[in-house]
Amino acid sequence: MASVAKVESVKNELPQARRAVLAMPEYHPPLAARDALRLDFNENTYAASPKVLKRLKQTTAEGLTKYPEREGVERITAEHFGLRPDQVLLTNGVDEAIHLICAAFLEEDDEAIICTPTFFMYEVSARMMTSHLVRVQADESLEFPYERFLAAITPKTKLIIVASPNNPTGAIVSREQMLAICAAAPQAVVLADEAYYHFHGDSVLADVGKVPNLLVARTFSKAYGLAFLRIGMLAGNAELMKLVRKVSSPYNVNGIALDCLPVALADGTYLDWYCDQVNTGRARMMDGLRALGIDFFPSHANFVLMKIGAKHTELVKAMRTRGVLLRDRSSDPGCDGFVRITIGIEDHVTQGLAALKESLQEIGWVAAS
Ligand SMILES: Cc1ncc(COP(=O)(O)O)c(C=O)c1O
Repeated sequence: MASVAKVESVKNELPQARRAVLAMPEYHPPLAARDALRLDFNENTYAASPKVLKRLKQTTAEGLTKYPEREGVERITAEHFGLRPDQVLLTNGVDEAIHLICAAFLEEDDEAIICTPTFFMYEVSARMMTSHLVRVQADESLEFPYERFLAAITPKTKLIIVASPNNPTGAIVSREQMLAICAAAPQAVVLADEAYYHFHGDSVLADVGKVPNLLVARTFSKAYGLAFLRIGMLAGNAELMKLVRKVSSPYNVNGIALDCLPVALADGTYLDWYCDQVNTGRARMMDGLRALGIDFFPSHANFVLMKIGAKHTELVKAMRTRGVLLRDRSSDPGCDGFVRITIGIEDHVTQGLAALKESLQEIGWVAAS
């Protein structure tokens, strides 16, 4: 009887996750009710290339029965970016690339370094493996804290993640700085996250292979407009990539995304058009914000971080009632009162600015003197 009771009590206890998993922060992006002008998530606000849609429509019922094959598309992608296939891994968005890097390289005692504020998924994935996440906070300028970042590197540093341009600030880290970080931590993997590369143009992708500890991530969710398909690219030294590949599932990227990627890569005209729209729109948005008296961080990406102050929540609500979504970044470290607006095609910038003007009036916002 005693042993039956023991079995019953064990049955009632759920298995526990690893300590690191219990301590991990959770990421809950506010994804509900986004049927509006999406100036909240830094997506392409308009459309992917029409050629991608055409390819999508060629999917057959029989085609859906197959496991997807990544290698052929990796070869095409590698060639497109001037890399070797063994230097490239396609992933389920850059989110997955970050997750895989952490799984492959971080031990419980290792340190990982990020700057804050930055993309929250770095923290989620790093904390999955280690509690030793070092955050180097930007000062009031929100520029990348280069000197303090370098000073945070120790012999225990095993992973460094730097986004350039950074999200949510739009701040950049120069190629020279990125390479100096790699040189200062030869024992660490350095991930340069270039999710917003297309809106800036500076890159360390050409340094892949030459700098042994450098990995570079590129997403197809932003400029290419393929967020719905979930596909990203991780590039780096073949030896490191072999280890990342080892922890990835062979079918991590779905077949539809793999079918569409070569078409999207080949349509450079469309990509250039969209980036042009954003770059012109960003200048227009920044001029518009100046005219409205709103302080902002000068951005190198497809979004602008605006300093609204105490009325940040009211502004986001007022914009929503006008059918425009913004992202309140106030809970990011050092971002109290900041709201981020995505830059899309010209027409969307016009709509965003008009709604901003009306909303600021409605909430009685006055510029800080
Ligand atoms: C800096 C940065 N990296 C990566 C991502 C995620 O990219 P993906 O959609 O490829 O997972 C984002 C998304 O907002 C981002 O801001």
